[in-house]
Amino acid sequence: MENSIRSIMEYLCQTRAFEKITFSKCREAQVMRTAAVPFARRGEAYIQIETVGADGRASHRNIPASEAAEVLCEMAERGYRQTNVHTAEGDCEIRFSKKEQCTILNRIRPVGTAVQLASHNKKKRYLLDPVEDMGARAFLYRLGITDEGGRILDKKRPKYRQINRFLELVEDVADALPKEGEIVIYDLCCGKSYLTFAVYHYFTAIRGRQVRMHGVDLKPDVIAYCCETAAALGMEGLTFSCGDINAMQPPAGEVPDLVLSLHACDVATDIVLKNAVRFGARAVLSTPCCHHEVFHAMHSEPLSFITRHSMLAQKLADAATDALRCLWLELHDYDVQTVELIDPEETPKNMMIRAQKRKKARGEKEKQALQAQYENACALIGCVPYLGRDS
Ligand SMILES: C[S@@+](CC[C@H](N)C(=O)[O-])C[C@H]1O[C@@H](n2cnc3c(N)ncnc32)[C@H](O)[C@@H]1O
Repeated sequence: MENSIRSIMEYLCQTRAFEKITFSKCREAQVMRTAAVPFARRGEAYIQIETVGADGRASHRNIPASEAAEVLCEMAERGYRQTNVHTAEGDCEIRFSKKEQCTILNRIRPVGTAVQLASHNKKKRYLLDPVEDMGARAFLYRLGITDEGGRILDKKRPKYRQINRFLELVEDVADALPKEGEIVIYDLCCGKSYLTFAVYHYFTAIRGRQVRMHGVDLKPDVIAYCCETAAALGMEGLTFSCGDINAMQPPAGEVPDLVLSLHACDVATDIVLKNAVRFGARAVLSTPCCHHEVFHAMHSEPLSFITRHSMLAQKLADAATDALRCLWLELHDYDVQTVELIDPEETPKNMMIRAQKRKKARGEKEKQALQAQYENACALIGCVPYLGRDS
């Protein structure tokens, strides 16, 4: 590999043997940072580019790996003053000085062919590796995702991919959690708790942290199964309770660092968000499920050109519900982004709301502007959703 930006980017796109490329010190003030990661969709290799603006909002672009080198090259050469590449074969840093002097510190040492690198990388991409990681295999086997040897069962592949992707998004907020001591996590509407066990394993076994984690669900049989499984696996600090999350009360003085929820149906997602705010959670990761409330309540003459088509009305209601949830969280002093959970071809329920509590509360003026935006949006759709009625 030649030591030029172009050949480095071509090499990375060809092999996809990188974990992440981070672009910082953007030449445009409205962009805070950008990151590129490789992924596969239906057997095709892509590079996803996430750009975070100065307002904290993230946007995403997926580019076929075969076309991405040109884009990444342009970003590293002209878009940003610093580019950092992390690969299993070493790191690389590209820097531009104020006088536009370019320095490339390339410590990438290719160790194999493109095909070997690609498959090595593919294997590495999943945080849960039931072949090499016996702890991961133990709970994945008990939950019926793998066989005894750690092979993912064909019908459970989508669930396995979904949990791994959720873990990647947990990993993104993990650095913002307290660096020392116990981490407190709640999984609300945990169901069979695939995610609960995976997140517990991620923090305790992969990151070596002490964790107190609690899952809650309405279904007694499912909760009994989860309690049994946690006990059988010796997962200390992992507890479950059966009940309505509406009535949930954390132990005195306990503030969750992270509130998780995967596919809590309809307004159950609103109750999760309301609880997260009520408990003062530091971070929230919530992937909504079905959206019925706004779809049925929405009544809007100006939007009737959309709502008279039932399919489009559903899409509008989905987007309005989630956008208003984000706005409501912003009103409660969270920074919020929406991110894609998995390939939309696998499930339409693939959007995650990622929220982190701000260190400093928003100023009165900003809150008034957000409140006005919330009220105007409700007036436009002709209804006030759950969270807006509740506060
Ligand atoms: C679609 S399942 C998702 C389960 C799990 N998070 C997953 O992704 O596999 C939704 C779960 O939410 C639970 N649920 C709905 N409303 C609830 C409430 N108010 N309190 C507790 N659990 C609730 C249901 O019992 C159900 O198990």
